[in-house]
Order: sequence, then structure tokens, then C-alpha cells
Amino acid sequence: MPNTTIKTEILIHDLKVPISVIDAGAKSLLNRQDSYGPLTEKQIKVLKRIIRNTLTTQRLVNDVLELGRSREGVMITSDFSVSSLVIAVLVEIFDLSDPGIADLIRKVESYAELEQVLDPAGVRLRLDKKMWKTVVHLDAAKVKQILRNLVTNAFKHRACLVEIFGSIEEKQMILKVGDDGRGIPTANHQRIFETYFTTGGSIETAIESHGLGLAGVMVLLKDMGGGLILESDDGKGAEFIVTIPL
Ligand SMILES: Nc1ncnc2c1ncn2[C@@H]1O[C@H](COP(=O)(O)OP(=O)(O)OP(=O)(O)O)[C@@H](O)[C@H]1O
Ligand SMILES: [Mg+2]
Repeated sequence: MPNTTIKTEILIHDLKVPISVIDAGAKSLLNRQDSYGPLTEKQIKVLKRIIRNTLTTQRLVNDVLELGRSREGVMITSDFSVSSLVIAVLVEIFDLSDPGIADLIRKVESYAELEQVLDPAGVRLRLDKKMWKTVVHLDAAKVKQILRNLVTNAFKHRACLVEIFGSIEEKQMILKVGDDGRGIPTANHQRIFETYFTTGGSIETAIESHGLGLAGVMVLLKDMGGGLILESDDGKGAEFIVTIPL
């Protein structure tokens, strides 16, 4: 591994401590008003925003470290249920955009209940019934990162609907993530997987889009021996189909 890559990774790793300190400080102010003093509504709002953003930063740091681990061929596999994985990803995404829905998702007890919570939020979840409780043996952090990136993209680009399909067929897990947005012209089907490629031009888009998500997805998939098919065209929405061998 090039020396600069190791240095960058160690630097990113070292961000973990100060981020935790910011997070713990904000949470103390919010949750221990008896010892730190009472807060106004506006102060509570700001603190909650700080906590949400430290969470995003922590995830980004973990994602970068996970990619480094992947590049080195390190796999940390365990048994986990598909339902826990899907719920974890949806909670992470809604925690940032709509914490009320995230709380509802945390409380669901069945697959049918989850479908009902997601429907009004514009997410159509369709998993094979038997898949819901299926336990798989994979690197959970990697699968989560793949699903989170695809679903986040779908949310970013959808008109009003995000679709998540899942099934298990012949010793492989299939996850499909689709949206009804502007789609991706065939000419860009290769390029969107390159690092730093984005289609947005304005400064605003440049801040929200780093063009790293899909490049990372490909690194992780390659590591797990998985594959990805993109079905999309201009104005026709996009569907990313991921297969991961079990
Ligand atoms: N569902 C989608 N619909 C339309 N375009 C998409 C979709 N997903 C990805 N793209 C295009 O592919 C580009 C690369 O996606 P990628 O996830 O790698 O980066 P990003 O989302 O722009 O930024 P980030 O690094 O935060 O993920 C996007 O900028 C966008 O133009
Ligand atoms: Mg992305």
C-alpha cells in the first residue's frame, strides 16, 4: 500500500476520538440538563442537529476505514439476519432525514409492519417472505455499506418513490434498489462507478456529492465476489441489482 494512503487512513482513523468527544459533549448538554442547566427549544434544536451530523461523520469515517480493510482483503464475517440488516440501514438513513420514521422503524416487530411504516415515507419494500428471517453468513459492515450507499443515492435522485427488493436464490443474495428519478443515460453507465465522477454541476451538488459512494460499492462487491447490474436510462429511473454469493 502506498505510504500516503496509510497516512491518510491513520489520519482518518484518528478523527474518531475528537468526533466522539463532540458527540458525548452535545449529548451531555441535551440529556443532563439537571447538572448542565436548562435549555431553550432553539438550543435543543441546534444540539440535535450537531448530534445528527456527528453520526454522519462517524459513518463516513467508518466507511473509509472499511474500504481500506476491504482493499487489504480483510473480511470479518458473522451470522446475521437479513431483517436486522435492512432495518439498520433504513434507521441510519431516516435518522438523518426524518427521525420520527426512524423511531417507528426501530419499533416494528414484523415484516408487514415495516412495509406499512415505509409506505407513507415513499419507500416500497418487497422482500421474499422467507428471506426476512433468513440468517446469512457475510461481512455485515460491507453489505450494510453497499445497501446504504445505493438507498441513499435512490433517495437523492427519486421523484417520489424508492423501491427495495430482496430475495435469496441458489446460494446468492439478490438486492435491488430502484427509484423513479431522472435516471442515468447509457453513456454514463460505466463512469458513475469511477471515483469522483458526479453529474451535478453546481456548487451545491458538489457539496452533497463526492462521487465516491458507487466506487466504494464496487470495491466492496469485488471483495465479496459479488456483482452489480445497472438498469437505467435518461428519464426512466434507475435500478441497481446487486448479487452477493452466500
Ligand atoms: N439512483 C440514481 N439516479 C440517478 N443518478 C444516479 C443514481 N445513483 C447514482 N447516480 C449518479 O452517479 C453519480 C455517482 O454516484 P456516487 O454514489 O458514486 O456519488 P454521489 O452520490 O454523487 O456522492 P457520494 O460520494 O456522497 O456517494 C452521482 O453523482 C449521480 O450522478
Ligand atoms: Mg452516493
